[in-house]
Amino acid sequence: MVARRRTACGETRVILGPVPREGTLYGADIPGQDARVIVILWQGSLRAYFDRCPHYDFQTGMAWKRDAYLDGTGTRLACHAHGAQFDISTGECVQGPCLGQSLLPAPVEAIDGQVVLTGPLPKTG
Ligand code: FES
Repeated sequence: MVARRRTACGETRVILGPVPREGTLYGADIPGQDARVIVILWQGSLRAYFDRCPHYDFQTGMAWKRDAYLDGTGTRLACHAHGAQFDISTGECVQGPCLGQSLLPAPVEAIDGQVVLTGPLPKTG
């Protein structure tokens, strides 16, 4: 669930959803943008990546169904279009057609148990 909330100082925050449990993730649409972010808690660190595969110049979403972003082992992010696999901690492609390229990180923080977008998303295409 994505929500916008205004803070006491008038700043608008985009809340993507709750901090996921360790090793779990979800995808969240960014309101007003053609953008989706993958949010995952991995080895105690909150990570978020733009849901666009570097193969084909960041034009393709990676899940084959809702929130299906992990490979079969559950230890790497995967693009199900052509099988690229990404290190969850770094976003780097470690197997597949975009080897050495990386997912674009999204700026997020955990605030009061919620995942909050803290800056603009990177530009793609
Ligand atoms: S579009 Fe992701 S591996 Fe080809």
